[in-house]
Amino acid sequence: MRRSTDPKASTSERYRQFAEVEATGMSACYEAWARAVAQDPAVIALIDRLPAPKRQPNLVFSAARYCGAEVGEYRPFAEWLHENWSRVDTVCRSHATQTNEAGRCAVLLPALGTLTGPIALIEVGASAGLCLHPDRYSYRYVDPAGGVRRMLHPATGPSPVVLDCVASGTVPLPDDLPEVVWRAGIDLNPLDVTRQDDVDWLTALIWPEHADRRERLLAAVAVARQEPVRIVRGDLNEQVTALVAQAPAGSTVVVFHTAVLLYLDEDERARFADTMASLPARWLSNEGQGLVPGVLERLAEPPRSSSDFVLALDGVPVAFTQPHGRSIHWLTTSAES
Ligand SMILES: C[S@@+](CC[C@H](N)C(=O)[O-])C[C@H]1O[C@@H](n2cnc3c(N)ncnc32)[C@H](O)[C@@H]1O
Repeated sequence: MRRSTDPKASTSERYRQFAEVEATGMSACYEAWARAVAQDPAVIALIDRLPAPKRQPNLVFSAARYCGAEVGEYRPFAEWLHENWSRVDTVCRSHATQTNEAGRCAVLLPALGTLTGPIALIEVGASAGLCLHPDRYSYRYVDPAGGVRRMLHPATGPSPVVLDCVASGTVPLPDDLPEVVWRAGIDLNPLDVTRQDDVDWLTALIWPEHADRRERLLAAVAVARQEPVRIVRGDLNEQVTALVAQAPAGSTVVVFHTAVLLYLDEDERARFADTMASLPARWLSNEGQGLVPGVLERLAEPPRSSSDFVLALDGVPVAFTQPHGRSIHWLTTSAES
């Protein structure tokens, strides 16, 4: 996930920035749509009927696809938007961008493997909770040349969800998946894997060309439906302390989050970091650079690219990760329990 566009910019400018900064190299369709929207006053007039925070390209394009817009050339898309705007408008107002990417478990797993189990997992900003099942997916770690370094499966056997991840550096790949004895999440707007509407929304949030991610989403939803987890509705700063107190005695409580802190302002992020420092829990964060207070300053080497996330355990950076979990580069100082 790249940095989102400036919400104070004009709609035309936001769409131009989105095309250039976020969509380029990620989605040819969204890049073309966003470039064209930036120069299409009639479509901008539609989008400007929405409140400013709801004008974001990713939300509008996802809402359009959720409502049935076909992926393809801009002109037919723009015509479709004019004909169907009231439905798209309603979906934009009632929905949020909250992509849930099970693939991120592949970059969380090496850090979880350094902790003493059994583990009680709490995910803040859980969306539909697909990252709360790291023990129910299979993993294939390969080295940068493509050679398989390790395959890992749940105790019950291979999972229909196989998470592929390129591992470089001295990644502490575990021999087994962690024993998770309890799991729960927090989200401002929890999505429910048992509701088809929610699954359709999660599907629409995946960018058009990312067919592998759509396939993985549906497979992960099927896994998660076998044992849906509790996701508390609310703000992570308000709810996390109470949830930690509910974790079973004798377990290592791990509070984790991925791709969440960009939704918080600086004060909210600082408050959350202070809370985590005071709780009887390990803190695993996988976030964009500069979002977890203190982590960037502790980096001993520069990130591989500006889009890299930083994986940190208890505020100490341990790895650079690709935002959707496709790769992990372990830093020379390793995490230990
Ligand atoms: C991009 S999604 C990431 C979901 C999941 N962590 C993953 O990596 O697949 C971010 C989630 O954080 C939630 N969120 C944002 N701000 C929050 C807050 N202050 N408290 C709780 N959840 C929040 C959003 O509702 C959304 O579901």
